Amino acid sequence: MRTALIAGNWKMNGSLALVEDFARTFAEARLPAVEVALMVPAPYLDAARRAFDDTPLAVGAQTLHPEAKGAFTGEVSGDMLIESGARYVLVGHSERRNLFHEDDAAVLARVRAALTVGLTPILCVGESLEEREAERTEAVVLGQVMAVFDALEPDERVRVIIAYEPVWAIGTGRTATPEQAQAVHAAIRARLGEYDATLAEDLRLLYGGSMKAANATELLTQPDIDGGLVGGASLQVDDFLAICQSAG
Ligand code: G3H
Repeated sequence: MRTALIAGNWKMNGSLALVEDFARTFAEARLPAVEVALMVPAPYLDAARRAFDDTPLAVGAQTLHPEAKGAFTGEVSGDMLIESGARYVLVGHSERRNLFHEDDAAVLARVRAALTVGLTPILCVGESLEEREAERTEAVVLGQVMAVFDALEPDERVRVIIAYEPVWAIGTGRTATPEQAQAVHAAIRARLGEYDATLAEDLRLLYGGSMKAANATELLTQPDIDGGLVGGASLQVDDFLAICQSAG
């Protein structure tokens, strides 16, 4: 049985006041059997870790540098994220791939860096609208998955979480239908089964792209959707809590 994970991604948004707001609300929240994490901007990690101490909220980061240390002005290493309280880190988010030119090799290097320090990488994959319209969704998404999984050892693969995020659904208000999302999740799980049946059964696949309280239940009840990666709706504590509550 896979435990659902709802991960909020604040992107470059939020504040220390919002961290406190989430801490107050989630300290008293009644949740089903679900794991919840918030990917906050790196400067808020330590404050979030402390504020969330008496809550079910775990803390995660949005990126990391593949090297452990060095002359990389502005970058943050996996060890620094661990020291600041992160348990998860996003890797390969489409905004990193597109705006910061992170290709499959860069994504793989970051997944490896995360695993080396004990962070759980959430590997983001997804097709553009153009790729979907050209009926290349499966090829693109599975290609992104294999670029990482082919290079990992079996004991590393089981430590990864995958988030399927169609790029055309991110921040657009246009959600994949439950059927569209389920079809891609099933294709990813089938491909993972070619590595190992237990890996395919156990690995958690999150959906991301305009998930909100109003559409969370129909997405989260699909058989191969094990949680959500929530952008915009993770900035409103009541909306985010409602999504977490629909994941039981
Ligand atoms: O990481 C989160 C995704 O990019 C989804 O963002 O919920 O604002 O569409 P969104």
